[in-house]
Amino acid sequence: MISTQALRREFRRSRRAEPLVAVAGVDLTVERREIFGLLGPNGAGKSTTMRMLTTLLPPTSGQATVAGVDLVGNPAGVRRRIGYVAQGGGTDSTETATAELVLQGRVFGLSRAEAHQRAAELLDAFTLTDAADRRLGEWSGGMRRRLDIAIGLVHRPTLLFLDEPTTGLDPASRTEVWAEIRALRDTGTTVLLTTHHLDEADELCDRIAIIDHGRVVRTGTPDALKGQVAGDTIVVTLPTGAAGRVAPAVGVEPWCRAVDIVDGETLRVYVSGGSTDVTTLLRLLDTHGAPVISLTMSRPSLDDVFLTATGHQLAAA
Ligand SMILES: Nc1ncnc2c1ncn2[C@@H]1O[C@H](COP(=O)(O)OP(=O)(O)OP(=O)(O)O)[C@@H](O)[C@H]1O
Ligand SMILES: [Mg+2]
Repeated sequence: MISTQALRREFRRSRRAEPLVAVAGVDLTVERREIFGLLGPNGAGKSTTMRMLTTLLPPTSGQATVAGVDLVGNPAGVRRRIGYVAQGGGTDSTETATAELVLQGRVFGLSRAEAHQRAAELLDAFTLTDAADRRLGEWSGGMRRRLDIAIGLVHRPTLLFLDEPTTGLDPASRTEVWAEIRALRDTGTTVLLTTHHLDEADELCDRIAIIDHGRVVRTGTPDALKGQVAGDTIVVTLPTGAAGRVAPAVGVEPWCRAVDIVDGETLRVYVSGGSTDVTTLLRLLDTHGAPVISLTMSRPSLDDVFLTATGHQLAAA
């Protein structure tokens, strides 16, 4: 659905200064009917990438095919096939949802009757019909964001771009927006979104590209990316003094990557991954006369992936 080759965008601040490289040659492939996320910190180049792919900003160099159309050669063709919801949205607080949807329909060349028909359909699909005639200023953030998405769908695009669809929303509203985005994917729309929320990338996106300083540093499904970060961590609490005694026996096991003695009663065991390692470890500790008092297991998070790929944490970036 999208394929880019060395897509790059520079911004000139003055005639003499070095240009600022916002996007430094990005190669991306987005498949049909997937939710694809660009994950990165503020200033990473997410919006700039999206604005290029939606024809709002010409690339400095590089190429892309968007919805089967050449981006540089036929921007009007791209525009007809895509929907775009900007970071922050663009609805007017003094208007009603019906008015905004009808306006958008008219922009795309629908007759007044067709535009009203389409507005009613979308309000129904997004369960916003009850609020349709109230001014948007009275709506919740989540309802407004869902309306933004509905507006992006007026002309039935097969590909929808959402720039930070849930930023600023409370947890309940985020969940609602996620449900809408999943429903779109399930009915055949491809969605490219940007986010700087790890949980959104992890739970909502089928695949993600981690972008930092204008470059894609990792691409894959959240699970595959987490799987590339060394294994799981198991922390066990044992009777006092047992940790040091059993650590060597654990360390020589083939499934054990490393073992740390945290203190006399706590052992941190790094394993390759998989639930069988826990059972094997429990059995081993038992045979060494060290019954387990408590145990926690943690998988690598996308933050660990981000840290490994960029050398810094997303939250602190
Ligand atoms: N029109 C512009 N003129 C000059 N510099 C720009 C322009 N637009 C973006 N930039 C710069 O390009 C870089 C990437 O910005 P971009 O908006 O793409 O980041 P982002 O990943 O979307 O960040 P955020 O999470 O804050 O939305 C930043 O350093 C930004 O200051
Ligand atoms: Mg942005």
